[in-house]
Amino acid sequence: MNNPVISPMCMEDLDDIETIENLSFQIPWPRQAFVRELCENTLARYFTVRDNGRAVAYGGMWLILDEAHITNIAVHPRYRGKGIGKALLKGMIDYGISKGIKSFTLEVRESNHVAIALYSRLGFKRAGTRKGYYSDTREDAVIMWLRIPD
Ligand SMILES: CC(C)(COP(=O)(O)OP(=O)(O)OC[C@H]1O[C@@H](n2cnc3c(N)ncnc32)[C@H](O)[C@@H]1OP(=O)(O)O)[C@@H](O)C(=O)NCCC(=O)NCCS
Repeated sequence: MNNPVISPMCMEDLDDIETIENLSFQIPWPRQAFVRELCENTLARYFTVRDNGRAVAYGGMWLILDEAHITNIAVHPRYRGKGIGKALLKGMIDYGISKGIKSFTLEVRESNHVAIALYSRLGFKRAGTRKGYYSDTREDAVIMWLRIPD
């Protein structure tokens, strides 16, 4: 897949999103959580990368004043390691900047070295931890921030 194209997530993506979510996370969001994000949460912005009309990656964030809280990002296992996650996150950051966002933040499992490498690649810095944040294993969350210079 050359040059992943990033577009707004829509309800028709949700079957694929649910599959990717279940393959990607120890505590997956239920489908209804995505429905609420798309239909009710006016702060939420979700994006999809598609291949032949099927969603293969997605990411979302909440825009709160001039901060963006990245809620999730995932790539279908068959499509990982091809630059799609990086292109998607970069597209989300560019979108946020175009809306006046000055800083981006997220939480990630301490053991998720691949995701931490991706975030570091795009300029995110570690800013602390939340002890025992993940309810399944009591694993710590690393808090990361990306600040956009003026
Ligand atoms: C994290 C995730 C989104 C990365 O997506 P991806 O499309 O595979 O990543 P990319 O191919 O764009 O690679 C981006 C960067 O991630 C890092 N990376 C990717 N695969 C890696 C691997 N196997 N080992 C170490 N670092 C890796 C590299 O820093 C890479 O940048 P580089 O190629 O310039 O060195 C994907 O692995 C995923 O969906 N994981 C499960 C869900 C998840 O953990 N989401 C994050 C929750 S906080």
